[in-house]
Amino acid sequence: MAREHVSHSDIAQFAKDKVNLPREKADDYREQAKRLSDRIESYIGEHPDFTIKRIMLSGSLAKGTSLRSSSDADVACYISGADVPKDIKKLLEYLAEKLKTAFPNFKPEQVKPQTYSVTVSFIGTGLDVDIVPILYDGNKEWSGNLVSQDDGSFLETCIPKHIEFIKSRKKKQETHFAQVVRLAKFWVKYLKSENEKFRFKSFMVELVLAKLSDEGKDFSDYPEALQHFFTYLAKSNIKDLIYFTDYYTAKELGEFKEPVRIIDPVNPKNNASKLYTTEQAKVIVEAAIEAGDAIDAALAATTKQDTIYYWQKVFGPTFNI
Ligand SMILES: Nc1ncnc2c1ncn2[C@@H]1O[C@H](COP(=O)(O)OP(=O)(O)OP(=O)(O)O)[C@@H](O)[C@H]1O
Ligand SMILES: [Mg+2]
Repeated sequence: MAREHVSHSDIAQFAKDKVNLPREKADDYREQAKRLSDRIESYIGEHPDFTIKRIMLSGSLAKGTSLRSSSDADVACYISGADVPKDIKKLLEYLAEKLKTAFPNFKPEQVKPQTYSVTVSFIGTGLDVDIVPILYDGNKEWSGNLVSQDDGSFLETCIPKHIEFIKSRKKKQETHFAQVVRLAKFWVKYLKSENEKFRFKSFMVELVLAKLSDEGKDFSDYPEALQHFFTYLAKSNIKDLIYFTDYYTAKELGEFKEPVRIIDPVNPKNNASKLYTTEQAKVIVEAAIEAGDAIDAALAATTKQDTIYYWQKVFGPTFNI
């Protein structure tokens, strides 16, 4: 074993230097999102029938799983009312108009509808916030119909519970769960840069890792934790039904015919991986086998140079120690 060449602590250092979003930047984003949500709250105070009901941080910044390369913050925006358009394009235009009403200081070019979200650019900081609409009917737990960022369909789900779900896994393996998520996402990002067809959604990566953690896999040694992840993908062929019973029982699960079945932890009828084809699943499995082999080779290599060579197969040329 050549653990002395690249050890757990080297991977931890690499994560700190190249993988993780630095704290100051994360704080800037969070502050920006908070300003948006505070302003909406005070606007609602003055205009109780305003149809935007809440803005909250969602996505990786809320979960603490952002990569250094993340270029924007995701926030969810709850909208309710009879006159809210259901057509996605009209809904985004509607949302942009409402945001301009609540934020009269924004210039028109700062609030732009995109394909499935509205981007708000802050001129001072240069940070963008991606606002994702959720159609909301007053549910006390803040469940609603989230606009899918993959295909614009409506997904019945609950963002605060997703954040709570990830938080509970982070608590069980402090520092390490979130770190292994970010390392796995970094692997995905590298593969995407090599192959534009490669897809592996962050939410799916998190759920696979949550399953492994729930099964008792220890994440405190990063090379080993990554091996758990790659071995699982390779062995299961990513064909297992993955679900969680935090918020529902197995009896409530829907019937799923799709090749990949990683079920939303808050809605037993929502397959978070329903858009993945057999071909895309195969590409993930093949990449996982290669990454697993590379880590084995890295751990068995006898020189530092060889060890780095193999780790670069997993994380790309930016890997160095
Ligand atoms: N298919 C889905 N069903 C339900 N909720 C979803 C689905 N896809 C995404 N979400 C919600 O949107 C959030 C953000 O999506 P995702 O996890 O893929 O991106 P992210 O955590 O922001 O990561 P990235 O760093 O890639 O931006 C998820 O945490 C989840 O709350
Ligand atoms: Mg995101």
